[in-house]
Amino acid sequence: MKYVPLGSTGVKVSELCLGTMSFGGEADEDEARRMYAACRDRGVNFFDCADVYVKGRSEEILGRLIKGERDKLVITSKCHGVMRDDINARGNNRRHIMSAVEASLKRLGTDRLDVYFMHHFDASLPIEEILRISQRAPSGTNTQPWHVYVCAGDVKQALSDDVLAMARGGTGKSYDHYDYYPAKWNDIHQARRRGVGWGLYGLLGIQKGDREASARQGARNFVFFDAPVGIFITVDSYLAKGNWADTGMYIQTIMLAAKAFGLDTCPQAAWIPYQEAVYRHLGIPDDQSLVTGMSLGYVDPNKIENTLVSERAELEDVATFLGFD
Ligand SMILES: Cc1cc2nc3c(=O)[nH]c(=O)nc-3n(C[C@H](O)[C@H](O)[C@H](O)COP(=O)(O)O)c2cc1C
Repeated sequence: MKYVPLGSTGVKVSELCLGTMSFGGEADEDEARRMYAACRDRGVNFFDCADVYVKGRSEEILGRLIKGERDKLVITSKCHGVMRDDINARGNNRRHIMSAVEASLKRLGTDRLDVYFMHHFDASLPIEEILRISQRAPSGTNTQPWHVYVCAGDVKQALSDDVLAMARGGTGKSYDHYDYYPAKWNDIHQARRRGVGWGLYGLLGIQKGDREASARQGARNFVFFDAPVGIFITVDSYLAKGNWADTGMYIQTIMLAAKAFGLDTCPQAAWIPYQEAVYRHLGIPDDQSLVTGMSLGYVDPNKIENTLVSERAELEDVATFLGFD
């Protein structure tokens, strides 16, 4: 059996993990015991469970199987699904998570879980609230020229799959005619672009010229950096610079409102070359122009890339004060 690191946790898990959703359902306890033993004999130390599997039966059976060797195992569980006829026994809110963890621990007969997943995206994240607040963003003559498309779940996954394949196949389009960024940057902007790029790659240990690692990191954009929600902001195409500036203010308002709710965002121009897929998956009319994509979720402070503090020019470099003497 090969063992691989579990993300950046420092924990090693067998390359194969047994999902136990059949325990107590399709597999009765005897069969579950045989499956478990077959895995253990071959060195599997990684067992995945969830509270909803056979309404808790799976956890109970897994709990009996792991007795006596809990310390050797990496055990997961999950919450989100409906567990009881109680409006609050579901979802990803703190109150339910606390009681779901306690119930899972009891069923598994253990005092800890090694990994705890939110089984599904919880649509009650305050996205609508964030976007409602953002509707108050200012715009020249109150034109409110923006449109916003929010995706999650299967729609987001299908888009990611398509764009990852496009990125791998190198079939992203050139959008030079789109005038999004200049064909040639001047030195100061180019230096800042390089500065933040090297800062990020330096933290991630990606060497200059390592195209494979750069492409791998670039592709993180297309899974929205594992955030649960993807957002795309467009502007009506016939509009002009002032309206794009308004849309920029709208985008910043979303980012600040998200922060106020304890959420984080990453705006992403990286989607621009793949906008054909974005439009197709999200049904965006072709008389709108994509201004940016955006990831929305909870930041992982343990990820090294999230520790980057980008540089900023001094105030004197950008501000001109006149008539103050
Ligand atoms: C319109 C826009 C598009 C961006 N596109 C991307 C992107 O595609 N991928 C990415 O990782 N960061 C992207 N960023 C994040 C910027 O690189 C980042 O804001 C900048 O380097 C400054 O860093 P800071 O926001 O951490 O201070 C984008 C930011 C904006 C405003």
